[in-house]
Amino acid sequence: MSQRLIFEVGKPGRKGYSLPKCDVPVRVIDEIVPEEYLRNSDPELPQVSEVDAIRHFTALSRLNYGVDSGFYPLGSCTMKYNPKINEDVSRLEGFSGVHPALPDCAVQGCLELLYKMDLMLAEITGMARVSLQPAAGAHGELSGLMIMRAYHEHNKEEQRKKIIIPDTAHGTNPASAAMVGYEVIEVKTDSRGNVNPAELRQLMSEEVAGLMLTNPSTLGLFEENIIEVAEIVHNSGGLLYYDGANLNAIMGITRPGDMGFDIVHLNLHKTFSTPHGGGGPGSGPVGVKKELVPFLPTPVIQYRDGHYMRDYEQPLSIGQVKSFYGNFAVVVKAYAYIMTMGAAGLRNVSETAVLNANYLMNKLKEYFHLPYERTCMHEFVLSGQTQKEKGVSTLDMAKRMMDYGFHPPTVYFPLIVKEAMMFEPTETENREVLDEVAEILLHIAREVEESPELVKGAPYRTPIGRLDEVKAVREPVLKWTPPRKNNE
Ligand SMILES: Cc1ncc(COP(=O)(O)O)c(C=O)c1O
Repeated sequence: MSQRLIFEVGKPGRKGYSLPKCDVPVRVIDEIVPEEYLRNSDPELPQVSEVDAIRHFTALSRLNYGVDSGFYPLGSCTMKYNPKINEDVSRLEGFSGVHPALPDCAVQGCLELLYKMDLMLAEITGMARVSLQPAAGAHGELSGLMIMRAYHEHNKEEQRKKIIIPDTAHGTNPASAAMVGYEVIEVKTDSRGNVNPAELRQLMSEEVAGLMLTNPSTLGLFEENIIEVAEIVHNSGGLLYYDGANLNAIMGITRPGDMGFDIVHLNLHKTFSTPHGGGGPGSGPVGVKKELVPFLPTPVIQYRDGHYMRDYEQPLSIGQVKSFYGNFAVVVKAYAYIMTMGAAGLRNVSETAVLNANYLMNKLKEYFHLPYERTCMHEFVLSGQTQKEKGVSTLDMAKRMMDYGFHPPTVYFPLIVKEAMMFEPTETENREVLDEVAEILLHIAREVEESPELVKGAPYRTPIGRLDEVKAVREPVLKWTPPRKNNE
């Protein structure tokens, strides 16, 4: 039986809910809502029974693919399993039932959690303090670069208007820099996958505000010259910004602060196991070294005279970057994760993530070209160039992977690798899954040799086939429209 959607199965009079009695006088609503905004007829909603509603939402959930359905190796996204205990903790009444406008004295527990989270993330990254306000990694970048600009302006170095960013960087890095008013200068990656120190030295000047770097880079490689790179930037008065999207590779092993970074953002929805992407709001805390603390967004959470408080008295602050104190429930989930893992557990996370990536990379490099032949960190980048020469692109192979029931890796990024496929298996997958994935990819590599047309037509087993991606962007269909009846 084909599954029909909720809008198609309704019949007048069917009902699957009962609402509690209204606990506010209806009169109040009439007084608050201006006359012109009040409805004068009921909305046209489907009228369905409870079982119809459940089947509708269950059918929708089956069309979706997430970390709870299967392997999700989307590189630089750290699509790890999100432990359910995080959800339970964030739903505790004391967290979910508070209003953000309550006075400090009424929310001491929430402020304590924010304060302790700030200090824990500072310890993990080697920073002095962390603001939990930014709502995503890109928002953390924007806030961090605003801090960098405020710092240079405070030091009367307004001429520092350039930011150096490697050619492997995620697109949000140059975008954030441009939004802050910086001119972006690209530094090239050398043949081992590192930033080239000699080239960096040449690019540095008194006009450069800083360098933005992801370490490990989006090639999944640790920056071998990081100490020298940091010295070059600092010696000419610049600051180092750490894009923490790849922190999952180094927790408990090394810290951006120890490598010489001055500002970092993290993605709680990656490294710290809170839901990612369509799963809900994110969180991109921004941390800084001691001399940059005065520039952090306000309010800063402080602990004074035995009380936690929101401190707005920070004259050099870049100001508030998100309403109230960011996506609080996301921070609670990440806090639960850190507390359940403990310090040793976090180190184990990173060690296992790196081990898993190297295991899979070594299995796959026999069938796909590996452009940088080095031990990788938590992710690795292959090239589908050999297959492309046979007429099958990386996109075709990515679509074919969906037929075998798992999510494709990140494709065509980083831009410096042709036909790139960036795999990040994460620590939460076991060896059997990795073996199965390697087998399927080997099978696809064979299909490319033996029946390329099959791979080029994929996917065949997904709810919808290959999309016209240009049309999907130009003419998006974002709402359900009833099918036309015969006589319409
Ligand atoms: C390397 C890197 N930097 C920055 C970001 C931006 O993070 P967000 O998606 O949380 O804004 C991403 C996102 O995938 C990334 O991979």
